Amino acid sequence: MTENMRPPPSDLPIAFENVTVTEGSVTILDRLSLTISPGEPTFVIGPNGSGKTTFLRAAMGLVAPTEGRVTWGGRDGVSPHKLAFVFQRPVMLRRSAESNVRFTLSAAGVPRIEHDGRVAELFKLVGLDGLQKRSARRLSGGEQQRLAIARALARDPSVIFLDEPTASLDPAATKAIEDIVRTITARGVKAVLSTHDLGQARRLANDIIFLHRGRIIETGATSEFFESPRSPEARSFIEGDLLV
Ligand SMILES: Nc1ncnc2c1ncn2[C@@H]1O[C@H](COP(=O)(O)OP(=O)(O)OP(=O)(O)O)[C@@H](O)[C@H]1O
Ligand SMILES: [Mg+2]
Repeated sequence: MTENMRPPPSDLPIAFENVTVTEGSVTILDRLSLTISPGEPTFVIGPNGSGKTTFLRAAMGLVAPTEGRVTWGGRDGVSPHKLAFVFQRPVMLRRSAESNVRFTLSAAGVPRIEHDGRVAELFKLVGLDGLQKRSARRLSGGEQQRLAIARALARDPSVIFLDEPTASLDPAATKAIEDIVRTITARGVKAVLSTHDLGQARRLANDIIFLHRGRIIETGATSEFFESPRSPEARSFIEGDLLV
């Protein structure tokens, strides 16, 4: 990622056309059609098991639809190339924090001469400056999550998927992650997040995809979703009722 303006990200929009994902006899995603556009973050929200992780994996091209299709940048048959994923439970290599990032820089084919500069820039960006040499697995949960984001950004993505990046983090650690999302958004990276934290969606989301049992119940602008939800499921979810 550079601080300069980038041209419009070519993997966007990401379009789902009637996407179904089944595993054996289980339907995990059920005929989803929607578009993820450039700009401010898009959030996918919904109860446990509603299909958020599977949705993000399909949007990244990690899961192939059983039916329907996903396209990136409106091109047919072209795989996305500038996407990065931060998993719900990121696993760090048993090495120093910075070797985790260097490993990804190498894997992404970044010339070795640029690695020192990129490592310095990325650690600063995620607020881990000074912890480069610390063993990655000794970092706190919040620090590991930030390292996972640094590692994903090492790929210089146009889109970054963050699967519940603040689950189990306290408010200060959550704020640190939200600030990173704001910074990278300002630099032109599209963030697509899942969360259980409705406050976070209110604070950061431009638009919301609300899933329940593998189906899209609502999509739309954040203010619309919170102020005038159209479905009973979204209303109960927003009001904090247990949606089962
Ligand atoms: N490979 C798989 N085989 C069978 N079922 C699966 C598979 N992957 C996911 N599922 C099921 O699909 C449903 C949706 O899973 P998914 O992980 O996408 O939901 P989620 O919204 O991310 O849940 P959580 O909030 O708990 O992370 C769940 O019932 C899950 O058990
Ligand atoms: Mg999940």
